[in-house]
Amino acid sequence: MSPQPYVQPVAESTSVFKDDLFKGKVVFCTGGGSGICRGMTEAMAAWKQQLRLQMRHGADAAIFGRKLDRLTQASKELSEATGRTCIPTQGDVRQPSSLKEAIQKTIEKFGRIDFVICGAAGNFLAPISGISENAFKTVMEIDTIGSYNTVKATLPHVRTTKGSYIFVSATLHYNATPYQVHVSAAKAGIDALAKVLAVEEGPHGVRSNVISPGPIGNTEGMDRLSNKSAPSSGWVHGGPVGRIGDIKDVANATVFLFSDAASFITGQVLPVDGGWEHLRTTQLPYPQAVLDPSSVSDMIKARM
Ligand code: COA
Repeated sequence: MSPQPYVQPVAESTSVFKDDLFKGKVVFCTGGGSGICRGMTEAMAAWKQQLRLQMRHGADAAIFGRKLDRLTQASKELSEATGRTCIPTQGDVRQPSSLKEAIQKTIEKFGRIDFVICGAAGNFLAPISGISENAFKTVMEIDTIGSYNTVKATLPHVRTTKGSYIFVSATLHYNATPYQVHVSAAKAGIDALAKVLAVEEGPHGVRSNVISPGPIGNTEGMDRLSNKSAPSSGWVHGGPVGRIGDIKDVANATVFLFSDAASFITGQVLPVDGGWEHLRTTQLPYPQAVLDPSSVSDMIKARM
């Protein structure tokens, strides 16, 4: 029998980090209504599965997004699961006024903001030749300018609490990824923004870091970008740690970076990708996908 690779287990943050790590603190998260960002926020409060063990990280939270029904449901579930308070704040990161209103609501409710997760993002597959000017601009506006707008709206409060930022980026712009020009440009901008923020705001007591998730299972991003016609083609060997990522992997990195254990870490980009980036080739068949976009038409809805 051939040797089998070791599969790293997914850790529960509460089995690694102490209870009430963030008691009395408040996290504000854009894109927090679903997926990775919701998982990051939940970890700051507690893990649902650990409630029976009375293990809690203790933060209260405000989640921000466009869809009020989704936010309301997520806030309710998060509050019930963690025993902390989570409030929905509706808006669009492209509209600074809606962010300012959300921050005002958060301050009225909790009186402070310690941690900010800039996670709102947009993505779809489209080639440079097919993506419209407006589509490219839309992703830049949501990801990069939206992150900037979030910083502008929250910074006075984060300075006051000597808090910390985490930006959600990606690994796909480290190498050229076909059909991802808009997201690659947007995430490179986010990485740069986070580093400048760290340098400018460090003397004011504010830290700023980036988490770059790799392939994380059961997320909208994976659903939008993975090759459904050959679902196992890229992931079949499990990668360096023997599996693709779990939302908890990103959540654990979040808890660490926001904790005092990371007080000497700022202006850094942390890939949470199980080492996949070192092995990555495009998930799309190459060069067929760029020569004949119709060969991957089930994956893209580009306006060509
Ligand atoms: N392929 C190519 N272009 C697309 C597209 C696709 N799949 N989906 C939208 N666009 C284009 C639109 O045609 C439009 O351009 P046009 O005016 O030249 O026609 C432009 O992008 C804006 O689209 P619109 O639907 O008006 O924007 P929106 O603000 O409602 O939605 C998106 C933003 C497009 C990013 C949408 O996918 C979204 O809301 N995503 C959020 C969730 C998400 O992407 N999560 C994954 C994170 S990894």
